[in-house]
Amino acid sequence: MPTNPIFPGSFDPVTLGHVETVRQACRVFGGLTIVLAQNLEKSNLFTLEQRMDMAAAATRDIPGVSVDWFSGLLSDYIKQNNISVIVRSVRNSMDFEYETQMSRLHADMAGAVTVFIPPDPRYAHISSTMARQVAVLGGDITGLVPPEIIKQLTSIING
Ligand code: PNS
Repeated sequence: MPTNPIFPGSFDPVTLGHVETVRQACRVFGGLTIVLAQNLEKSNLFTLEQRMDMAAAATRDIPGVSVDWFSGLLSDYIKQNNISVIVRSVRNSMDFEYETQMSRLHADMAGAVTVFIPPDPRYAHISSTMARQVAVLGGDITGLVPPEIIKQLTSIING
């Protein structure tokens, strides 16, 4: 079995779709590290620490999950940590185009294989962008993000 599979992303914030992807990946690999990108900070609503806290809280009940971060190129993190498998969720054809390019890049630059996990139909329409917008505009985010992070997310947004 491959060691150290990672699920990289912004997780700004972690969504119900992300958690389901983690759950499915753990069924296959027996564990997973969620790896948050730091250097997109400027365009993120939440800080790296807040995003890591929320990702950890949302996946606490899934055995074998850990949370880490990287800055710079993902391919450098992959090489430094001897990662052989990247997990990504592909929700639709737009995701597929982008994810296929990314998977090729990481195969060429770091020798890693990307495994695509199809979405749970309940969550296929959900994105972090959507969750952020609904949260910032004061809407109900219960169907978008894990229940474990709603309090923290709402209090960060309300200052
Ligand atoms: O959750 P996202 O925003 O789709 O995650 C994208 C992410 C963070 C995995 C990707 O943008 C990334 O790896 N960024 C780090 C910089 C990098 O390696 N860029 C080259 C691949 S696009």
